[in-house]
Amino acid sequence: MKDAPAEPPKLDSEARGKLRAALLAHYDRHARDLPWRRETDPYRVLVSEIMLQQTRVETVKRYYGPWLDRFPTLDALAVAEEDDVLKAWEGLGYYRRARNLREAARVVRERWAGAVPGGYEDLRALPGVGDYTAGAVASIAFGVAVPAVDGNVKRVLSRLFDMARPLPARLRQHAAELVDPTRPGDWNQALMELGATVCTPRAPRCGECPLGAACLARARGTQSERPEARGRKKSPTVDIALAVLHTGGRVLLVRRPADGLLGRMWAFPERELGLQPGVPTADRARRAVAELVEAIGVRSARAPLELPLCRHSFTHLEARYHPWAIEVDARTAPAAGDHDSAWVDPRALGVRAIPKAQQRVLSTLLDSLEKAVP
Ligand code: ADE
Repeated sequence: MKDAPAEPPKLDSEARGKLRAALLAHYDRHARDLPWRRETDPYRVLVSEIMLQQTRVETVKRYYGPWLDRFPTLDALAVAEEDDVLKAWEGLGYYRRARNLREAARVVRERWAGAVPGGYEDLRALPGVGDYTAGAVASIAFGVAVPAVDGNVKRVLSRLFDMARPLPARLRQHAAELVDPTRPGDWNQALMELGATVCTPRAPRCGECPLGAACLARARGTQSERPEARGRKKSPTVDIALAVLHTGGRVLLVRRPADGLLGRMWAFPERELGLQPGVPTADRARRAVAELVEAIGVRSARAPLELPLCRHSFTHLEARYHPWAIEVDARTAPAAGDHDSAWVDPRALGVRAIPKAQQRVLSTLLDSLEKAVP
């Protein structure tokens, strides 16, 4: 019979006290000076933590300041147009976060008279706020002693207690027992920081780690196997044809549906290519684009031009965009789009938020148009 996995030993209160003191002292000395660490305004903390979900600190640093210039208060965000909000988020990815953040601001305005609630459960009930974010905001902005377990913290705790595949509830329990009751926000950030800078996925710097003396994985030499990597399923690749319709220096953009990938952003008309064994992808893309042109009801003025393939990784899929530029006969282009489609000057996109991959396609279009000028 297989042994049940050994329970990691519980720390007594003296050991916990030593751990807390060691990590907080390390944090006080080495914490990175990040813009959101200079404040405890709950709205600002909420913005930073939502931005930091699945996004690197270095990237968030470029967005945080401009975002606050644009939406300095929760009220400003709550009353903002969705388009403006998506535009300010443009390039950060995972755009649902932006829409949820605006929705959360509206809920706080309605239900909490504009003051972000400080309780973990109340935060958790806001759109886009999960266990991690609720814990981070409650502890950092309100000093509530609750844990915040992100990927970095999971790795640190898995090593500290030498757990190969800890269940989320177990991790949370360990994290909750460790939170320093006097400085919970700093404690949670210190754990994240340790995971980001010392207890890194590969080649952790155990010699510099303030928790080294207590770390079970270090004592047993299992650091590199903690936590065990789950076999990641390879994301499927999806081929998508893009119709890049242009006339008189304007391109046609359509607004994507609210649910699903890149919801409410502006993009080229597209069609996913199904499988057709034996037919080269380029041919299928060309045909799909011809169908799109027909469905939109415009006529092309000249032969379509294939633009370079463009790839983009989403969380669960690898997109391969096959863009074709179609110069439209101006007489067949509707003068103005309806609410969800528009002919726009690519050099003056205004408030419309465009996904990254489509921005790259736009610049290849502009390049090819420039070259075409005699
Ligand atoms: N990742 C998520 N939240 C963070 C924070 N407050 N500081 C550093 N990294 C983080």
